[in-house]
Amino acid sequence: MLRPVIQPVHEIAAEVIRQTGKDKPADAALREVLKSLRDLAPYDATEVAKTVFIYYRWHVWLREERGVEAKMRLALRLNQRFQSDESSMPFSELRAKAVPAWAAEVMAVGDEWLCSLQREPKLWLRAKRETVGQLAEKLLGAEVSPRLPEALLYRGEEDLFKTPEFHAGEFEIQDIASQMVGQLCNPQPGETWWDTCAGEGGKTLHLSDLMQNKGMLWASDRAEWRLAKLKRRAGRAKVFNYRSAAWDGGKKLPTKTKFDGVLVDAPCSGIGTWQRNPQARWTTTTNDVSELSAIQKNLLANVALSVKPGGKLIFSVCTLTRAESTEVVEAFNASHPDFEPLIFPDIKLNERTVAGASSLTLWPQDLEGNGMFIAGWRRKKV
Ligand SMILES: C[S@@+](CC[C@H](N)C(=O)[O-])C[C@H]1O[C@@H](n2cnc3c(N)ncnc32)[C@H](O)[C@@H]1O
Repeated sequence: MLRPVIQPVHEIAAEVIRQTGKDKPADAALREVLKSLRDLAPYDATEVAKTVFIYYRWHVWLREERGVEAKMRLALRLNQRFQSDESSMPFSELRAKAVPAWAAEVMAVGDEWLCSLQREPKLWLRAKRETVGQLAEKLLGAEVSPRLPEALLYRGEEDLFKTPEFHAGEFEIQDIASQMVGQLCNPQPGETWWDTCAGEGGKTLHLSDLMQNKGMLWASDRAEWRLAKLKRRAGRAKVFNYRSAAWDGGKKLPTKTKFDGVLVDAPCSGIGTWQRNPQARWTTTTNDVSELSAIQKNLLANVALSVKPGGKLIFSVCTLTRAESTEVVEAFNASHPDFEPLIFPDIKLNERTVAGASSLTLWPQDLEGNGMFIAGWRRKKV
């Protein structure tokens, strides 16, 4: 049978860009267009996605060009030049064009960060603890990270969702910075944990693996459709020690249980994902930052009493603004004298080692992953 004629990658990418707008983010438009092109080879689908994201990474540089195709060609040229020689792009230009001007008002905007935003993001997998070595041998192009025990950098070209290893629940696609959150929670087998903003369960599954599927793990979210996706993922990963419950983030908690550990992986402005999700640089606003900061403070205050005396409370956000990181920690400290900072173990990053910290800002350049802020407390024993 003849294969249907498929449009060239760049034509499809241009169509995705045309469909992207205020009400439809680039990743949603991409999903829709790719879904309508079922015969597109996985390699070509990846190329379409890469092209769309390159376009938004170089968005401001393209303003003078007319038409989506011409803009896309310029974006690809700029990208190629930058990937082969980063010094070809002056920092002054990155400062003026890579992020919106308001970013410097709400966070530290350094040259290293700006440079990292223009690189192509890495694809990270999280393997099950017991089979990480075997998986690295089976999956062509997967390499174990020297930074985190279960993190694999994937450079291969296979459609990972179609591999037998994926269907057997041997790995998940999870950014390395998100994996750091699970590591810093460090839950023990037999403990009781609550993943309060579990979403589709990326961190729930990791916590369960670290707990060796023993003990009890509550997963909640206000979006029940996300919890439904978690259920499917948990089935594949053979996670048995969790139960899920809807929770709107308010004072009424889904359970009276007191936990050894509570994780608040809170909704946030997502600036830590601007390398992977560049269109968000041009849709996020300072209003989002202040509204989300208030939500994060509330979530922490509402769950604090569900932590057992001696138990841990962990806060994480994939963003880098002061209002959603240090200010949230300061507000919690001021109103919760019954909690003390939890000292994290020493953490080795690419260029630095962090020792004796109770909060950590991970920049994309630190682990070649998302930017993330993580803080921890221990509830004092009375
Ligand atoms: C950062 S995402 C969670 C990602 C997830 N933990 C993971 O690792 O895959 C934040 C989650 O918080 C949920 N959320 C948003 N606002 C909320 C609120 N006010 N109360 C509770 N959950 C909320 C969202 O539905 C979203 O799933």
